[in-house]
Amino acid sequence: MGLYTKSPFISDKNLGSCNPDRPAVTCLLMHLHVLWRFLFYSGLWTGSIGDIYAQETKDPFAPLYNEISESYVLKVKPIFIEKCLDCHSQETRYPWYHVIPGIGYMMDQHIRDGLKDIEFRDTFPFGGKKKPYKQLASIKRHIEKGDMPPKSYRWLHPKARFSDEEKKIVFEWADFYTNKMKALNKE
Ligand code: HEC
Repeated sequence: MGLYTKSPFISDKNLGSCNPDRPAVTCLLMHLHVLWRFLFYSGLWTGSIGDIYAQETKDPFAPLYNEISESYVLKVKPIFIEKCLDCHSQETRYPWYHVIPGIGYMMDQHIRDGLKDIEFRDTFPFGGKKKPYKQLASIKRHIEKGDMPPKSYRWLHPKARFSDEEKKIVFEWADFYTNKMKALNKE
């Protein structure tokens, strides 16, 4: 008895497996089962360990993510606050006319659509359907074409218009990391 019954991991009702009358291997299997259940239900396996595993094995860009996130928060986010985050983040600042029936509804629709495509967060990759290495290129392309932020929004929000200097900062940032990710993709 002694040793087996004192197991801190096995509950009383499973003592049948950890019993000196049974082969020791049944006790070992019981412990493995309990350990597995602990990892599984605690989320340790499906969550953090799974993430680390997936990032290191499948995602070649993972080593860049910290750097991209930090440079985004430092250099790009201050520009995006006035121009993008109302529609592409959880940080929407609603104007007073949002309460007008119809207008509020239209704005919510706009915000939902924008969020679905790309959600700017403080950590890269941003949310949305696009693959990480396409997100930065897409941001640059839409600003370059002038369709982001949308014209109607620029009209109501003068600060949403880009200065040449702001464009330069965002484009250089997007190009730099798009190229870095492309290079990693080829390795
Ligand atoms: C007034 C709301 C609004 C603002 C402000 C806005 N967007 Fe958008 N954005 C949208 C909507 C709606 C969509 C999805 C529909 C579409 O493609 O036109 C979208 C789509 C996008 C997409 C994805 C397009 C694709 O092909 O998947 C990108 C990238 C984007 N926006 C970047 C930006 C950036 C960068 C800014 C700021 C410089 C910005 N947006 C400002 C509403 C907005």
